[in-house]
Amino acid sequence: MVRNALALQRANVKDAEVLTETCKRAFDSDSEYGSPGPGGPPGYDSLEWNMSIINNQYLQYYKIVSEDDIVGGFIVADRGPDYQVCERIWLDPENMRKGLGTRVFKLVCELYPSAEVWVLGTPEWNTRTNPFYQSLGFVQIGKTHDYSWDGIYYEKKIIDGFPKAMSKIEDFREGQQRIIVEGNVEKISSTRIVKSRKTGEELKVANATLSDDTGSIKLVLWNQQIPQVRKDTNIRIEEGFAKYYRDELQLSIGQWGLVVTLL
Ligand SMILES: CC(C)(COP(=O)(O)OP(=O)(O)OC[C@H]1O[C@@H](n2cnc3c(N)ncnc32)[C@H](O)[C@@H]1OP(=O)(O)O)[C@@H](O)C(=O)NCCC(=O)NCCS
Repeated sequence: MVRNALALQRANVKDAEVLTETCKRAFDSDSEYGSPGPGGPPGYDSLEWNMSIINNQYLQYYKIVSEDDIVGGFIVADRGPDYQVCERIWLDPENMRKGLGTRVFKLVCELYPSAEVWVLGTPEWNTRTNPFYQSLGFVQIGKTHDYSWDGIYYEKKIIDGFPKAMSKIEDFREGQQRIIVEGNVEKISSTRIVKSRKTGEELKVANATLSDDTGSIKLVLWNQQIPQVRKDTNIRIEEGFAKYYRDELQLSIGQWGLVVTLL
């Protein structure tokens, strides 16, 4: 069988219109695969959003090109060195289920030869993406609860050892950013209400104790982070940061942070 030429190329703003159209058609077809309602992930049908992501220095936006036509897109981010995130992949519906998604993933892996870990999240309800990622060798490691729906969190480890992007609690240092850590939630306080010194706004705050095989640290949780963390569960935090407060080193979760409840 002769296979159509397939390429992944960095997207340019002049591609944004076609990419937005393919993205809208792709995610609108989720209605046939368990979607609880119309719509897609943030910005999926917005030209401005797609243009801003093409220009975003922290994300790598690729177009999927088959026989000179743009048939889909792929957005990659990194959470740390060689810890790659598949932020989004889509194919125009007329090009789905022909093995292109699988081929695209192989091309992406070739573009990131030093990647140690690939991670991604997808809605639990999605009856198409879950089998797709599993067919690529992704393994569910946990669940996320940061949206109105629960997410399945997948990982594909390329190396056997401890990824260099991840840290142990004993290694945390003042000012450390982009921390990825796993630990057990040993304690969690009741929620208090405090007033923001900057805006006067009322904020919810709770403290948890996170422990791993090297130590323990106070984990500070704000607002919508609080219900995502439960006592006696193992969690992974991405985009954490460590900072001293009243002589105690504490871990917090940044604006783009994520809590995964591990299986
Ligand atoms: C997810 C997506 C990228 C898959 O791409 P694709 O090219 O259609 O997938 P492939 O043809 O390579 O399929 C590989 C395997 O995935 C699974 N799979 C793919 N589509 C499936 C479907 N509709 N139902 C069940 N399993 C499916 C199957 O195991 C398939 O192997 P098989 O065809 O031998 O049974 C595509 O369906 C898509 O663009 N979906 C909408 C956007 C989206 O949800 N993106 C991911 C979230 S960011």
